[in-house]
Amino acid sequence: MMRSENKILLLTGSSSGIGWQICQSVSNDFTLFAGVKNEEQAEKIRSLGRENVIPIQLDVRNSGQISAALEEISERGGGKLYAIINCAVVAHSGPIEWIPKEQLEDQFDTNLFGPIELVQKAIPLLVKEKGSRIIFMGSMAGVFTKPLTLPYSMTKFSLEALVDGLRIELKTQGIYTSLITPSNSPTPIWDKSLVQGRKLLSTKTAAQRAPYSFILDRMESFSIRGTDKGIPPQKIAEGILKVIRRAKPPIRKRIGISSNWMYFVSLFLPYSMRDWIIMRRMKKAKKD
Ligand SMILES: NC(=O)c1ccc[n+]([C@@H]2O[C@H](COP(=O)([O-])OP(=O)(O)OC[C@H]3O[C@@H](n4cnc5c(N)ncnc54)[C@H](OP(=O)(O)O)[C@@H]3O)[C@@H](O)[C@H]2O)c1
Repeated sequence: MMRSENKILLLTGSSSGIGWQICQSVSNDFTLFAGVKNEEQAEKIRSLGRENVIPIQLDVRNSGQISAALEEISERGGGKLYAIINCAVVAHSGPIEWIPKEQLEDQFDTNLFGPIELVQKAIPLLVKEKGSRIIFMGSMAGVFTKPLTLPYSMTKFSLEALVDGLRIELKTQGIYTSLITPSNSPTPIWDKSLVQGRKLLSTKTAAQRAPYSFILDRMESFSIRGTDKGIPPQKIAEGILKVIRRAKPPIRKRIGISSNWMYFVSLFLPYSMRDWIIMRRMKKAKKD
């Protein structure tokens, strides 16, 4: 049962990783509409047995589903929405020369255009709730571009630009915009990206792979390094929920040591040094 005094949150990408942790950690004084792509994911959310966590069909690439989800939230929440938490993501990987246009489109539709459409359509609900807020998830990939994950990085760089302008544009309507940038975390994003990268690789001949062997050799180990190290997704979910509770949310929040030092290093390092550091980290990943 939704209590009328509850503030309403809309989360995208609820079925795994950080979004899934938010579904488990959100306190009962919020009503969380947890965006899912299919019935199986909806069932996963229901299996938590939490009355205040309600699955809602929301593939962010689908305009019809965005409108329908917001309509349902509006009806059930009295026309108000307190926060959007954007966790839906894909990370297509492989040398950019090989990434098909459809994958680039999917990358931008999921990580950028879908979330923008969601925000555009949600503004009339957000303005009705005092102190409402939009949370985007940044990444170190939006500060440093590593080889093999350019499509993901391009969307994360774009988000940096989006949040800086959106924050100012929405200010007079009383809507806050925050970018939360965590360090690497062992969530399924890494495996999903690797599976997709391997699939792309399998379509290429040895001759086609040859010019990229210096990085392809490291693709697996670099990704595996991401899956077993880093800060727990629970800690990131708690950080996001703290931002939701703050009277005035921060403009930007970095979670984890590496996101902090990498950000500051990026401000001062010449590009040749950046390249050297990235290659060194990839070599280290191969050895580990
Ligand atoms: N994990 C990290 O190391 C890390 C570091 C920095 C920033 N982040 C950011 O944190 C956020 C969450 O990442 P995560 O690690 O939790 O990733 P994740 O475990 O892969 O979860 C992503 C979620 O998004 C869903 N999704 C994919 N495409 C969608 C679509 N079109 N519409 C709606 N939902 C969709 C996925 O469902 P399916 O599984 O069915 O596709 C999944 O539920 C992302 O913005 C990511 O960039 C993560």
